[in-house]
Amino acid sequence: ELGGSVTIVVLGASGDLAKKKTYPALFGLYRNGFLPEQTHIVGYARSSLDLNTFIERVTEHIKVTGDDAALLTRFVAKLSYISGSYSNDEGFQALNDHVSSWEQHQETCHRVFYMALPPSVFVEVARGLKRNVYNSRGSNRIIVEKPFGRDLDSSRELGKQLSQLFDELEIYRIDHYLGKEMVKNVMTVRFANIFFSQIWNRMNVDNIQITFKEPFGTEGRGGYFDDFGIIRDVMQNHLLQVLTLIAMEPPISTDSEAIRDEKVKVLRCIPPISLDDTLLGQYVGTEDGSKPGYLDDDSLSNKNSKTPTFASTVLWVQNERWEGVPFILKAGKALNAAKVEVRIQFRNVAGSIYRGAARNELVLKVQPDEAVYVKFNNKLPGLSYDTIQTDLDLSYRHRYTDLRIPDAYESLILDVLRNDHSNFVRHDELDASWKIFTPLLHQIDQHDPALEIHPYTYGSRGPQALDAFVARYGYDRSTSDYEWPVQNLK
Ligand code: BG6
Repeated sequence: ELGGSVTIVVLGASGDLAKKKTYPALFGLYRNGFLPEQTHIVGYARSSLDLNTFIERVTEHIKVTGDDAALLTRFVAKLSYISGSYSNDEGFQALNDHVSSWEQHQETCHRVFYMALPPSVFVEVARGLKRNVYNSRGSNRIIVEKPFGRDLDSSRELGKQLSQLFDELEIYRIDHYLGKEMVKNVMTVRFANIFFSQIWNRMNVDNIQITFKEPFGTEGRGGYFDDFGIIRDVMQNHLLQVLTLIAMEPPISTDSEAIRDEKVKVLRCIPPISLDDTLLGQYVGTEDGSKPGYLDDDSLSNKNSKTPTFASTVLWVQNERWEGVPFILKAGKALNAAKVEVRIQFRNVAGSIYRGAARNELVLKVQPDEAVYVKFNNKLPGLSYDTIQTDLDLSYRHRYTDLRIPDAYESLILDVLRNDHSNFVRHDELDASWKIFTPLLHQIDQHDPALEIHPYTYGSRGPQALDAFVARYGYDRSTSDYEWPVQNLK
């Protein structure tokens, strides 16, 4: 718990991330009683806005009814806004004066700097903060979010510049997937259950898939996206983080550095991804013209872009636990569904007397509708000895009444206030993750002729080559006749 006052400074407060994520998350924390009494939230950005216009903007995405409306009014009373430049000291000095004015009666004051900013201004803003707004009467914490560079070298350069200004323990690198409920649950499922911990290895697991599907394209965001592509956008960070939690060895405790040590260790067991283990795609419009292709987007300047909007890559963890087990990552925009899940497919039962029985699978459904379920074989009830595939199913919405799953950003900002780094990316972890992806990304950027970009239709399952690609790594689709009864949730 933080004693004294807390000032949360949102840099880039007039932008999209602040409006869509940061302020709603701060309100969520306030509503649940997690913001210390003496908290002030200051927005800082270049646009000159009066307070009312600013407040209208940052509360636009906060939906309240009934009692919450009064809470929102009280929350809004904690907000202020200062406009100023990112590149010279005066603005930051004004910000510092503003913050100091209510800190003067406090013995201890903490400052949290939330950088809701494009990477082009990260470093100069961090510099301006360090020079003018850095606090000597309590802690300073700075929250940054991807992109952390675009490859190993640029990430190192950014890291070097940031580390000259802030200490590693003052820096919180957000990967918002680490704030998601089911991602936070991976360690609990693995390490608090003897039946999972015993089978979590190459002796029992055949292959693992981590899948990210979005049903919409990059419409309107093409400018940003084209420079990055799907691998930098969600794979090198979000999906790799999930993989790390699935693959790492048990940490010695739940202490944040113990966890992060294990994460770095397992990442260092993964060699760079090879071209052979990669399938890329880009979406095209539907035949009837109702959905656009990637290249049809007006915000895209390069109409011949070869940027992948779909990728599947296979990673190999070369250690005693996992050698030979493929970790298949799949991510795509403009697909047939909105879903993120981890699917662990187990081996066939050796010498099985029930020939043809499907493989066991453990599925962790990250979104939507959090669930953990196991597919297993059962005797068909009644006067039959047939084997049927069924499930042990923990669907959160069924099992937990009054379920309220906080937004990832809410959970992560709370971690920052609690000074808990477990769910943030450490510098050596970031470095290890770029090492895995950088050679492949460079080959893609240089349009290596060995890399075909497969077209796929907006709203489809992805490139046609996908099923054969995944089958190459041993995934047995015979389990897929079975449908998980999602409809029960409705
Ligand atoms: C962001 C990516 O980091 O994650 C987006 O830039 C993507 O392209 C988003 O849509 C997905 O996050 P979520 O929480 O909606 O699954």
